[in-house]
Amino acid sequence: MSATLPSHESEAIAVAAERRWTWIVGAIIAVLMLMMIVTGLHWASMPPSRVETVDVKTLHLRGEFVERNLGTAVEADGRVVVRLVAQQYSFEPQCIVVPADTPVTFRATATDAIHGFIIGRTNANTMVVPGFVATFTTSFGRTGEQLMPCHEYCGTGHEAMWARVQVLPQGEFMAKARPGERLSCVAR
Ligand code: CUA
Repeated sequence: MSATLPSHESEAIAVAAERRWTWIVGAIIAVLMLMMIVTGLHWASMPPSRVETVDVKTLHLRGEFVERNLGTAVEADGRVVVRLVAQQYSFEPQCIVVPADTPVTFRATATDAIHGFIIGRTNANTMVVPGFVATFTTSFGRTGEQLMPCHEYCGTGHEAMWARVQVLPQGEFMAKARPGERLSCVAR
């Protein structure tokens, strides 16, 4: 029977425990809020797709985005990769060829301002930010031509900035693709 405490002592123990847990719960909430703030600020300061960087000043001179490397290529490992550059007020290339029903990886960058593009009614949609490589992989279920407008306001010529995407049947595309060559369609 010695375990029974006087009521004022047990009340003091309960109050101390409540106070302790108030601090612990408060600390957990504070940590979660801090995580939200830090990750929110961290992501807000980055382009949405990736954080791969590229030097705008040497873009046209060397590396992945030189002119002869733009367009669609079947890489040595069989991946289909489209490389393009956005600038005021056009995309290079102006007409992109891709195969249907095949994973296609886009790698894009911008030279002068923030641009972006969406391809027709597909879910292919990205911002293109100078200094960064925007990349995503998508697959086109339907053959035919799609419009690819710039969808970030980039200056006075913004509305006139768009390209075309031709989705060819897979066999037709593969018949045209040559190792080490870049494919693009001539704008009509
Ligand atoms: Cu480029 Cu709007």
